[in-house]
Amino acid sequence: MNKLIVDGGSPMRGEIKIQGAKNAVLPILAAAIMGDGGCVIHNCPWLRDVEKTGVVLSQLGCEWKRDGGDIYVDASDMNDCRIDERLMREMRSSIIFLGAILSVCGKAEVGLPGGCPIGLRPIDLHIKALRQMGVLVKEEHGYLNCECPRIKGADIHLDFPSVGATENIMLAAVKADGRTVITNAAREPEIADLSNFLNAMGADIRGAGTSVITINGTDRLHGAEYTVMADRIVAQTYLIAAMMTGGEVMLTGAEPQHMQAGLSVLAEMGGKIKKNSNGVYIKCDSRPRSVHILRTMPYPGFATDAQSPFVALAAIADGTSVFVENIFENRFRYADELARMGADIKVEGRSAVVRGVERLYGAHTEAYELRGGAALVLAAAAAEGRSEITGVEFIDRGYEDIEGNLSRCGIRINRVRV
Ligand code: EPZ
Repeated sequence: MNKLIVDGGSPMRGEIKIQGAKNAVLPILAAAIMGDGGCVIHNCPWLRDVEKTGVVLSQLGCEWKRDGGDIYVDASDMNDCRIDERLMREMRSSIIFLGAILSVCGKAEVGLPGGCPIGLRPIDLHIKALRQMGVLVKEEHGYLNCECPRIKGADIHLDFPSVGATENIMLAAVKADGRTVITNAAREPEIADLSNFLNAMGADIRGAGTSVITINGTDRLHGAEYTVMADRIVAQTYLIAAMMTGGEVMLTGAEPQHMQAGLSVLAEMGGKIKKNSNGVYIKCDSRPRSVHILRTMPYPGFATDAQSPFVALAAIADGTSVFVENIFENRFRYADELARMGADIKVEGRSAVVRGVERLYGAHTEAYELRGGAALVLAAAAAEGRSEITGVEFIDRGYEDIEGNLSRCGIRINRVRV
């Protein structure tokens, strides 16, 4: 176990190369098991969730290795179609392997993923869609047992534009018999990244990034080489770090077109933003302004994963901000930890009223989940005095070397092992 020690108050100044997107690399690694021949994935961040995905690949009998930011996957010797319950509980997003395993093996047995601190995380939309594609799905003894010798293309309307369900349908459809059309599909950029990778493997997918995705099944997929998109949530987190500490940062590799909603809010709150082909730059030399009301929405709306970092920013802004969390039912738990630092946040169900205070003060806080943990780091960097943050393993799930990136930009932060 380890913790982060942060001595707040130093302005962030410097440049950060933005890591590859966690939520793109996970489904892309699942897709890699479908190729006849090896795949090489570039710009992979080294995260706990990527490490755990490697454990899943090994459990399925696939060969994989990492060389810096490159991951090589060869599924030629894949000899299993099962992901055990313990692994699924450790990383519920492994459910994204379901469509790929079914496509390769015609059957799959995966532990039910269960919920997490931010919500129940049901998978009913995944199951309903797979059944429409002819998959026999039985839920028994904590496992999903799926059988389908030959997946059939289908017209699938998603009741909610679920990212994971959209990805699982794409993975099941690329080698199915016939055509699959997904309507009300998720439009997140990570879906388009997965589609680009699958098409590089020989798939025939059109419309990814829009709400209608058409997949024409093909007989086989070959290996491919691909570079993962930049992480838009990590980028927004570091932009907020600069705003909260009255500094400036250049994020090389960040893709502004993937975070228009967040950039618009940062500008409204006083950030001076410059965008170019190299990335995104921000400077803020005055107290941030509050934002009237901010609702999380499916993409291209304001991202739920950016909600907690923005609440940390609003906690020291001039004025009162209201946040409405429309995607997950329990995504304000970190607010209690921010309150220990002097933040004034009133949470009522899916809404949080944040009254900005002049200053936060260092405290001992605990991360319970990934993005809430990131918000604690941001608050500690802006606070007066020393903070200690435990539960760092949650932050490590999505942020590669967070203390290295921030300390190289002047934030006094280090990791100690306890
Ligand atoms: C992905 O989760 C991301 N994770 C999440 O990022 C992100 O917050 C979420 O999309 C929304 O953008 C990965 O990509 C690994 P959903 P996912 O299916 O696919 C409901 C992070 O911090 N729903 O779009 O699980 C669900 O309960 C993580 O990086 C159903 O009701 O999200 C939720 O309310 C957190 N039934 C909403 O849809 C289903 O079958 C959005 O879920 C599936 C989802």
